[in-house]
Amino acid sequence: MTAAASLSESQRAAFRRVLDLLTERMAADDAALGDAFPYLTAPSGAWKTMPATRSAGYGPNGWDHGNWFCGFWIGLLLAAYVHSGDAALLGAARRRLDLIGPRAEDPNTHDIGFIFQSSAIPACHITGARAYAELALRAAERLRARAVRTKAGSYIAAWGPLDDPRGRASSAIDTMANLPLLYWAAAETGDASFRDLGAAHTRMAAGAFVRPDCSTYHAVEYDPESGVKRRGFTFQGAADESCWPRGQAWAIKGFAASAEAAADAGFFALAEDLGRYFLARLDAGLVPYWDFDDPAIPAAPRDSSAAAIAASGFLDLARLSPDPALAAEWVARGLALLDALARDYLVTEESHRGILKHGCYSKPQGEGVDSAVLFGDFYFIEALVKLLYPGRFAPERSRASSGRVA
Ligand code: GLY
Repeated sequence: MTAAASLSESQRAAFRRVLDLLTERMAADDAALGDAFPYLTAPSGAWKTMPATRSAGYGPNGWDHGNWFCGFWIGLLLAAYVHSGDAALLGAARRRLDLIGPRAEDPNTHDIGFIFQSSAIPACHITGARAYAELALRAAERLRARAVRTKAGSYIAAWGPLDDPRGRASSAIDTMANLPLLYWAAAETGDASFRDLGAAHTRMAAGAFVRPDCSTYHAVEYDPESGVKRRGFTFQGAADESCWPRGQAWAIKGFAASAEAAADAGFFALAEDLGRYFLARLDAGLVPYWDFDDPAIPAAPRDSSAAAIAASGFLDLARLSPDPALAAEWVARGLALLDALARDYLVTEESHRGILKHGCYSKPQGEGVDSAVLFGDFYFIEALVKLLYPGRFAPERSRASSGRVA
């Protein structure tokens, strides 16, 4: 049974109400924002914005991620279009695709995957327009160009120019969730080098990021010559040895994507183990604290985005699992998280924009610690669209037709 067919009538109605809210919010906010792109809500509930053109880079205060959120807004516009059929929302998405176009040449960040896999790929899928496929391919070439070839294999450097030694040695767990851009490019062009790099990165990440208990490091520094891991550390988590739930959720999605693209049962088994670790650390509310190991728990903020990303990953595991009983189990786990988010975390106040409350962007940097965060909204909605409109938002193979990971 597919995930979509497992929905109860009350779940279907609740998820449709979320998409109604999304449609209303996107129609009202997109026009009001002009050319600016929202990324987090401020304590007042209003959107904080930045231009799409802000690239990542090292500045006097260290690393600046730049605007890696901008594609998610376009993805939300497209999801609202799929739900409502309102052509104005598609028009708004098209206008914004023009605004993010120059970022397809950005050589400085692995987040180029997030930007274009959430925007240009669904835009191409929904409209059939080749221009969006070409845009996504340009971005995929940039991501492929971030490969660092070591004696132990290849990885994709996360942050900054490759001629900066800090950037060249850097790797982050979030890169795993940027790999779908490469896998889409491999399928689109028939050029296996995109897929092979994703698989090579995944092999190195499995060795360097995943601890014996199947928790993950947020970041790893490699020796770019030998490929040996120098250290595991964190940038957005509580401590180098803690487990940051959003990173764990990115890993679940990324290992599942690599399992599908490379037809690799080992990657799939690891994705499932990462998912089991995530579930084992949840309490009854099903939405994790911002870090599983913050010593301040229970007086610590939650991160609804981690639950949304993990739920989306669980639906991916369900679609790919060769075992119908395990697939049903992953559907149930994903739906439980989505039910909790829709029941307890949905924005209700008019003044609070965004869809999900209580996301946590970066507690160590004091940014967006109790906010709607755009990637949380995106993966929540992406999961709901996969359930209510299967195959309409992005290319999606069924378990029967992929038959890849068994
Ligand atoms: N940079 C990815 C994240 O904040 O999850």
